[in-house]
Parts: sequence; C-alpha cells; structure tokens
Amino acid sequence: MKRFHVTTFGCQMNEHDSERMKGMLVSLGYDEVAERDDADLILFNTCSIRENADNRFISHLGEARRLKTENPERVVGVGGCWAQSVKDEVFRRFPFVDVAFGPGQIHRLAEFLNSDSLSAQGYFEFEEFSGDLPSHRARPFQGWLQISQGCNCACSYCIVPSTRGREQSRRPADLIEEARRLAADGVREVTLLGQNVNSYGRDLPPAERIRFSDLLGMVNEVDGIDRIRYMSPHPKDMREDVIAAHVELSALCEHIHLPLQSGSSQILKAMRRTYSRERYMDRVAMIRELLPDCAITTDIIVGFPGESDDDFACTLEVAEEVGYDGAFTFMFSPRRGTLAAEMEDQVPHPVKKERMAALLEVIQRRALERSQRFIGRSMEVLVEGPSRNDPTRIRGRIRHSKAVNFEGAAEPGQMVEVEIDSVTSQSLTGTQRLLSAIRA
Ligand code: 5AD
Ligand code: SF4
Repeated sequence: MKRFHVTTFGCQMNEHDSERMKGMLVSLGYDEVAERDDADLILFNTCSIRENADNRFISHLGEARRLKTENPERVVGVGGCWAQSVKDEVFRRFPFVDVAFGPGQIHRLAEFLNSDSLSAQGYFEFEEFSGDLPSHRARPFQGWLQISQGCNCACSYCIVPSTRGREQSRRPADLIEEARRLAADGVREVTLLGQNVNSYGRDLPPAERIRFSDLLGMVNEVDGIDRIRYMSPHPKDMREDVIAAHVELSALCEHIHLPLQSGSSQILKAMRRTYSRERYMDRVAMIRELLPDCAITTDIIVGFPGESDDDFACTLEVAEEVGYDGAFTFMFSPRRGTLAAEMEDQVPHPVKKERMAALLEVIQRRALERSQRFIGRSMEVLVEGPSRNDPTRIRGRIRHSKAVNFEGAAEPGQMVEVEIDSVTSQSLTGTQRLLSAIRA
C-alpha cells in the first residue's frame, strides 16, 4: 500500500481542494499517514496570497528535499496557487519536485500517478471544474460546496485572478446533487465556496442562470442540511436579495463576511474594489436593519501603496462605526505581477506595523463589545470536538460563527444548547443545558 501526506496552506478553497485530493488518492488505493517521514507521496497545496505564505511553504519544501534525498523513490508534488504563480520556474528552482499543478487541477495528479512518467510534469492550464472527485472530509458533519472557480475582479493587490483564472460557475443541478449527496453522507453544515459568491451564475447559459440567493434557497431545501455558510461575498455585488435570504432561509447562518479592505474611498479606488466607503456603509446599514443580530466580519489591509494617515484614519472610523464581530487584518504585501506591487509610495514597514497595532485595538475592543450580546443567552452549538486548551471541555461553534468552549457531554456533530456566561473578543464560554441535545 502506498502512503501519502498532504500539507495545506491558504484559504478554505485550498482546504477543500486538499480534501478532494485526499479523496482521490484514497480511491487510487493510497493510505493517508500523519507524518511526512512515513509517506511515499509528499504533497503540498500552496498559497501565494501574501509573501509570508510563500516563505512558510518554502521552509517545508526544504524538508521534502531531505526526504527525497534519503529515498529517491519518493514522489514530491506541489499544487495550488504558489505553484501556479511560479510555474515557469518551479522545476528549475526546485529540481526535486516531480509534479506540479495549479489549483483546480487535482485530477491531473491522478493522471501523473497513473502514468509511467519519469520526468517532472507540470499542469497549469486553466480548465473547467474538475468534476466529481470524492472528498475526504476533515469532519464528517461539515462539508464544502465549491460553486465557482476563478475570479473576474481586478483588485490591484491580489494574485488570485492570475492563479485561478476567469470565473466559472458550476451548474445549479450539479450543485444540488452534490449538496444532497453530502447530506446523505452525514453533512449538516455546508459552506458554499467561491472567490466572489455573489456573482454566481452570471456566466451560465440563460436557461440555467440563477442568482446566488436562488442557489441558497435550493440548498436550504436539502433535507439534513441544518446550517449554510458562504465565503466570500464582494461588497460590490451584495444585494438585498442575499441579505433577505438570511431572514427567510432557516438554515442560512447569522453571519456575513463582508471584506472591507480599506475605509478610504480613495484607496478603495486604487485597489480597484469598485465601491466607496459610502456604498459599503449602505450595505452594512441594510444588514443591520434586516438582521440586527447578524455577525459581520471582514478583511482589512493596512499600508496599501499611497495610504496616508488620513486614509488610514478612515479605516479606523469604519471599523469603529461597523463594530465587527471579528476581522482578518493584513499588512499589504506586494505580489509579483499585480498592479499594486509596481505602485510608487510603498508604505514603509514600521508604518504598517504601527497602523496594524492601532487597527487591532479597535477591532478587538469592538468585537468584545459585540460579544456581550450573547451573555445570558442560550445558543445552538454544533459540537466540533474537545476544547483546544482544556480537553475536559468541549468546543463548538454558534451560527454566528463564534467558537464556544463549554462544560457538558456531547459528541462531535451533535447540536446542543449552551448557555453563555462569559466572552472574550474571540470566543464564548458557557455550560451545556441539560437534556438539550436538540436534533442530536
Ligand atoms: N497583501 C495583503 N493582503 C492581501 N490580501 C489579498 N492580497 C493581499 C496582499 N497582496 C488579503 C485581502 C483578502 C484576504 C484573503 O487576503 O484582505 O480579502
Ligand atoms: Fe486561496 Fe488565494 Fe491562497 Fe490561492 S492565493 S490558496 S485562492 S488564499
């Protein structure tokens, strides 16, 4: 029996790709092992979104080189966005790599493994969605549903359009069939994935074209799916129908991730985000009006080229005004081939660090204030497993996507009611209500 080991970097899209990779390898007769040392096939699913993502990966590659030298029969494969972004040089710079492939080209890995190829192979053309590959899910009760691939946006900082190609939506019928299969297989929480989920369907032929909100409605009808999430929407395409779907659809969770990137309209323009601060705040107002309790989270970049103190002050103001439940914050990192990497007025690193610290203060303070609303409430929790810091406790997630650590007795995959008694900016703490295994 051949053994494989996969290391995943980057976003949920990559995690999902890795699960499909693992499913495919299992069906080819491979066995997964926990340690890289024990594997005959060493795979990396890489990310290139920021420079530190690249750096982290390259140190891992060093270990793969050592293992390959120890046993030249081992196969080393590199997939994902970083591989795609260095496709012309990957074999020259890393001669011990046997196979390299771009995102969404997982099926080509099977082709490589089944061939007698002795020389290094690269697979980098953009293709259609690579079809039904079995997934090897990390948790049996949570699944991904990739609704589209690629991205038609032209954000000037982002490498994704060049690593994942043009946007292609998958057909609604295929998606519903896959959702039903997931549910039949024990999945109760499904996350719809796309680079820009709100533009779903626009590239489909008229007879099959539906809106993202219609797709949400169809997934909501699938028996067994108790929770629906999606990643990520683009504020420019976030319309009332999607926000209203959160009111109407019982499974759609009370959480919207709405990437801000910057609070300055001028910087948003240089980022080519195609919305202004005002339009963004309009979306937030609409969410607050229709869904007062909904969690809002975001992504913010500090130190974009040309960002002045005034521009940054706008970002702080927006963060203050919105009061996010959580945020991913990033220092701008120039990515090769992107417009922003070539811009003048790059912001010095110490300034980026200072701005990051100021932003984190606002984000954490407001998130802690927002968390207070859960104190004393009884919340539905999907149990994920033992608590990370204290294994006598249990960890799960509420529909608003906050993690909860609690005392009680419940198995992963169960839904329980937990009464919240204390909170931090990041997570909640509570006690399971007795006999509360609702729809366990
Ligand atoms: N530098 C810093 N952050 C970036 N992101 C994307 N590209 C860059 C970059 N070049 C951030 C954005 C995006 C998140 C996934 O990563 O905030 O929403
Ligand atoms: Fe995901 Fe972007 Fe990283 Fe690719 S580059 S793995 S799309 S975060």
